[in-house]
Amino acid sequence: MWPYPKVLAHRGGGILAPENTIAALRCGLAQGFHAVEFDVMLSKDEVPVLMHDCEFGRTLAGTGSVAGSTAEALTAMDAGSWFGAEFAGEPVPLFEDAVAFCRHHDIWMNVEIKPVPGMEALTGGVVAGCCASLFADVAVSDAGRLPLLSSFSVTALKAAKAAAPALPRGWLTERITPDWKSQCQELGVRALHTNHASLTPDLVRQIKDAGYGLFCYTVNDPQRASELLRWGVDAFCTDRLDLIPADF
Ligand code: G3P
Ligand code: MG
Repeated sequence: MWPYPKVLAHRGGGILAPENTIAALRCGLAQGFHAVEFDVMLSKDEVPVLMHDCEFGRTLAGTGSVAGSTAEALTAMDAGSWFGAEFAGEPVPLFEDAVAFCRHHDIWMNVEIKPVPGMEALTGGVVAGCCASLFADVAVSDAGRLPLLSSFSVTALKAAKAAAPALPRGWLTERITPDWKSQCQELGVRALHTNHASLTPDLVRQIKDAGYGLFCYTVNDPQRASELLRWGVDAFCTDRLDLIPADF
């Protein structure tokens, strides 16, 4: 049900490094993390890159958008300076380069498909297809070595299923709605990913009894992390790699 690690570094390296960069993955690894969550979006020319925000202005300086920029332009941009001068020049990584880094260092991945509004189906299909090619050498039965694709977008998840049916998926939902079970069944997901604030011990029990993996975001308090694990949550991502060790 959850053949994956228990604690994941959120957006690569949590608070230690600029999110969704190779530097972040490197920081997580240096802290002993061999499991990571990152966000993937499509460029104008439909190339998957690591990125959270659709628009520039926070992690990338200036104005503009990911969907309005080519992968070549994005990978030439500075995604590190906003975080700290020591990360100046850290590029926006291509998804395939992030996967290569993770595979080389034995880091398991939760790939969050983060579509620009209006590009949900395209993003789900392209990211899943790309992932399937990058993991073509891993047997489907070797579940723990395959990445887990997740998304808040039901449309993206359906497209991911169509493009790469053998890759495991998780449905990301901010709140657990009463129809959670039928939604999981329809999407054919292995796991439910939710905001930890939406969980209760009873809900955790229901989800686990129904046979789904249960992952939550983003848990930054060690006491809360202990409580969630006691309730039966399988795994969570954290920004506080300094407070919550990988072997928590
Ligand atoms: O995948 C869980 C979490 O990353 C979802 O929220 O906004 O940090 O991508 P966000
Ligand atoms: Mg995310």
